[in-house]
Amino acid sequence: MTVTIVGSQLGDEGKGGIVDVYGDIADVVVRYQGGDNAGHTVVHEGDEYKLSLVPSGAVRGKIGVLGNGCVVNPRTLFEEIDTLRDRGLDPDVRVAERAHAILPYHRVIDTLEEDVKSDDDLAAGTTGRGIGPTYEDKAGRRGVRIGDLLDPETLRSRLEYVVPQKRALLEEVYDISIEDHEDIDADAFDIEALFEQYRDFGDRLANEGMTVNCGEFLADRLDSGEELMFEGAQGTSIDIDHGVYPYVTSSNPTAGGATVGTGLGPTVIGDGEVVGIVKAYLSRVGTGPLPTELGSVDGQTPDDGGRPSEADLAEYIRDEGGEYGTVTGRPRRVGWLDIPMLRHAARANGFTGLAINHIDVLAGLDEVKVGHSYTLDGEEVFTMPPTTEKWGDCEANLRSFEGWEDVDWNAVAEEGYEAIPENAREYLDYIAEELDTPVYAVGVGPGREQTIVVEDLT
Ligand code: GDP
Ligand code: IMO
Ligand code: MG
Repeated sequence: MTVTIVGSQLGDEGKGGIVDVYGDIADVVVRYQGGDNAGHTVVHEGDEYKLSLVPSGAVRGKIGVLGNGCVVNPRTLFEEIDTLRDRGLDPDVRVAERAHAILPYHRVIDTLEEDVKSDDDLAAGTTGRGIGPTYEDKAGRRGVRIGDLLDPETLRSRLEYVVPQKRALLEEVYDISIEDHEDIDADAFDIEALFEQYRDFGDRLANEGMTVNCGEFLADRLDSGEELMFEGAQGTSIDIDHGVYPYVTSSNPTAGGATVGTGLGPTVIGDGEVVGIVKAYLSRVGTGPLPTELGSVDGQTPDDGGRPSEADLAEYIRDEGGEYGTVTGRPRRVGWLDIPMLRHAARANGFTGLAINHIDVLAGLDEVKVGHSYTLDGEEVFTMPPTTEKWGDCEANLRSFEGWEDVDWNAVAEEGYEAIPENAREYLDYIAEELDTPVYAVGVGPGREQTIVVEDLT
């Protein structure tokens, strides 16, 4: 059996926590896309782990795999593994030889391009980890793959082809003198320096037996009766195909990414559970429209966006929910739940169940609203329009729910679903009904024991 965990909104829905909650049944936890732009939190017995590349099953001692659909920065991967080892975990991480490596020049180019785009309001507010430039090189057939790091001759020939192009990009397009620029490490554009660094990374990957032929490795595990969990990063509305382009990441967080990004067939993923992770409201790190946004965040909310009159409410939710980026520390934009966005996600992913997190964060509000539909060009629409410009033109039609009281959520978690305040259960029922998908789990706090499991996935 397989379980695929997918973000149904804009990232940071609490995917790491749900991977941890259901992780007891998994033998292997597999990331299938993205890289160290992700920040997945697992909280257990007072310890908080923020994971970027190491799959969240590491907290339970499960084998982690970074699939071929991932982009892997070996430096940050090793730093993360070493930090987790210092904290007493023993992460067993395997990396697909077909996964692409992030090189230092990708980060430099990510930042430079964001700067240029910001003049035209096109910057996505990236995490600066070099994700987009690495996927560009993959599609442009000039990338360096993890397998290449173990083969010095291939590594050198790949670098000899690509590095002069990157130098030319900086010098001739951006008009930058690499050697003189104070914020740029010249080694990032030096074939010899890159060869030495990345060959060393290859040596460590080889010495620790970390590389795998991903699809084959996973298929063998399935054949021997093991359970696989796929851990999506980011979320459906920042998927490069199904998200609010161009304010998206450069990969496919949607469930289809789990097949392309691992080398297992769609029937394998489709035979299992696909769990959509839903935050009970919206949060967004980055730019672009957001029809249900409350308040606004400088530099991220579009000039004509947000609801400035609701700034206090936005701040309340931001503080209660700790809505500050795991990777960047930036304040996240917040808004009411957007049901058209979730209808779009339910279709694009084929959710078999939902995990709805953060209902504790909204506790104590007199009234909780949701965007039930949009008005676009005078008509009521129920799902997201395909262009981001049209999405920006959508006005959310809000529906109001009676709020629920703040309670002892630990006691609620212990007692189970029926102990959730009635108004909150009405809210959950409404979401399940609109998406025609059952609720599998409800998060009432960040810890493993603070998730109420309605449906066991054994
Ligand atoms: P991910 O990227 O989807 O894994 O989510 P993040 O870890 O970036 O952000 C989710 C944040 O909310 C983390 O700090 C979690 O510990 C926390 N969290 C997860 N579920 C809940 C919940 O049900 N209630 C509360 N209050 N916090 C939660
Ligand atoms: P997790 O897995 C929230 C956003 C960035 C930016 C856009 C592109 O923790 O949910 P990128 O660096 O990927 O090129 O940035 O995507 N973004 C995320 N937002 N959660 C994430 O990951 C994100 N990863 C990227 O803020 O708008
Ligand atoms: Mg996150």
